[in-house]
Parts: sequence; C-alpha cells; structure tokens
Amino acid sequence: MAIQKVGVLGCGLMGAGIAQVSAQAGFPTVVREVSPNALEKGMGSIAKFLQGGVDKGKLAAADKEKTLANLSGTAELKDLADCDLIIEAVTENLGLKRELFGTLDGLCKPGTVFASNTSSLSITEMSTFTKRPERFIGLHFFNPVPLMKLVEVVKTVRTDAAVVADANAWCMAIGKTAVNCGDSTGFVVNRLLVPYMLDAVRVFEQGLASRDDIDNAMKLGCGYPMGPLLLTDYVGLDTTYYISEIFFDEFKEARFAAPPLLKRMVLAGLHGRKTGRGFYDWSQNPPA
Ligand code: CAA
Repeated sequence: MAIQKVGVLGCGLMGAGIAQVSAQAGFPTVVREVSPNALEKGMGSIAKFLQGGVDKGKLAAADKEKTLANLSGTAELKDLADCDLIIEAVTENLGLKRELFGTLDGLCKPGTVFASNTSSLSITEMSTFTKRPERFIGLHFFNPVPLMKLVEVVKTVRTDAAVVADANAWCMAIGKTAVNCGDSTGFVVNRLLVPYMLDAVRVFEQGLASRDDIDNAMKLGCGYPMGPLLLTDYVGLDTTYYISEIFFDEFKEARFAAPPLLKRMVLAGLHGRKTGRGFYDWSQNPPA
C-alpha cells in the first residue's frame, strides 16, 4: 500500500468524517483546522459518532480507542509534510484552496498525492495550483461519510495512472466502493442528483403536491432512503443553491437553474438541518 499516512484539511462535516474513516481503517491521520474551536468541535463530533457506534453495538470500545489514537489535530500545515495522501475538505472557495495547495506543494515530499473532496469545483483547475498536477486527484465522499459507502475517484487529463490505482486501493482499504470518472462539474452523483433535488423544489413551489407527499412519493415509490426535500435540508439549502449556480454556469441548462423559492429560503436563512429550519423543522426529532 503506497498510502500509509493521511492528512485532512478541514475538520467540518466532511473533513471530520473523512478523518474518522481513515483513522478507523488504521491509517495515522492528521487533521488540520485553522481555529482551535473548529478543531475541537470536529474532533468532538468524531468521538460522538464513534461512541454512538459503541452504544449501537456496531463498534468495539477498543476500536473506538484505536481510532482516536490514530488521529491527531493541528493548526500547522507543516505537520502534514510527510503524509502520503492529503485530502482537502475546506469550504468551496477556490482562493482558499489555491493558497492551501500552493503552500503544501512547497512543504510536502515529492510523492505526496493531493486530493480534493470538492463536490462542484474543477479538479483540473486546482491541480494547476501545484507543480505536481500528475499527483492531483479528486476524492469525493458523501454525507454522512462514515455511513455512505461511495467515493468518486476523479482523474484529470494530467493524473498519473499509478496515482489513480493508489487512490482506488486506499478507498478499498477504508471500506468504501470507488467509482472512477473524469473531471466534469458534479462528477456522476451530483450531475444526476442536483437536477432531481432542484426539480423537487420546483414542483413544491408550483404546488403540485405537499412537502410530505413529494417526499413520500420518492421514498415509497422509488425506495430512496429519504425524500428529495428532506435530502435538500440534509445537504443544506445554501450548499444546494451554491452548487446549482456552478452547474448553471458550466452547462447553461435550465434544469440546473436554482428555483426562486430555493434562493428566497437561502436569503431568509432557512438553510435546513444546519440552521434548524429549511423545508422541515429540525428542532423536532425526527424533523417535522
Ligand atoms: N456508528 C456506526 N454505525 C452507525 C452509527 C454510528 N454512530 N449510526 C448509525 N449507524 C448505522 C445504523 O446502525 C444502521 O445500520 P444497519 O443498516 O445495519 O441497521 C445504519 O448506520 C443507518 O443508520 P440509521 O438507522 O440511524 O439511519 P437511517 O437508516 O435513517 O439512515 C442515512 C441514515 C444513512 C443518512 C440515510 O437516510 C441515507 O442514506 N440518506 C441519504 C443520504 C444521501 O443521499 N447522502 C448523499 C447526500 S449528497 C452528498 O453528500 C454529495 C454532495 O456533494 C452534495
């Protein structure tokens, strides 16, 4: 296994999940966050998820301890210098990613593979922020990372075949199924999923059916684990809106355009689970 030590940039929802699954699979994993508060929050969410696994009888208490022992947090990029793989999971801000990858390029050993967990920005563009585009790849995880089995492995026209093979082997080692694809906005999952979520908001806005009837229709009629409006809340209305803008900009197709209701809800701060309200009220359990 070419990949032994893993670095993760960002310890938010996605970064914390990625760091957890890496450490849980036995890889020494260093997570970098800028603020001590954010790091503490992210590490706390990992410990809470692992404890949840122990309480549900899904994880041995000793494995929880081993996972935590494989994890370390830092505020310093130089602490990631000897990692074999670094996965970026910071906010979707190209300027920030440029700064991080540019700095790491100068700090890391030549063999380090750089990966981004971006869901909608161009892997090819990010690879140009470094002098190692052949060692740059996309590794796109799904929320909640510890439970969702898929990783999209995204190669650019410059990525080395050996790097793609190493990334696939690492995904398998952390218990995920990898699908391989080229670098096009949204890759496979979001290219298909985002228009579906936007259409659900559109038909709700047009009054075709109630929120619950739309969600039940897709849950019970298609066997999806959750309906599209609950899923939009779960992903975040702000995130969905942001992604739709990038898609629309890339493809100029109406199906990627954000419905006015989505925009208004984002403006009103109804971002879904993260703000407590979206299509559902998340102060209730289950959301009502
Ligand atoms: N540790 C270990 N296992 C745990 C656990 C924990 N802390 N918490 C839950 N589990 C296990 C449960 O025991 C259960 O296992 P079994 O199937 O063996 O019973 C399983 O995980 C599911 O957990 P729950 O029963 O608590 O929850 P659920 O059945 O309601 O499923 C869900 C929750 C996985 C989120 C499911 O609703 C789902 O798949 N939803 C769709 C999520 C989705 O589509 N995500 C993609 C979003 S898009 C994205 O991420 C990309 C993007 O870029 C926008």
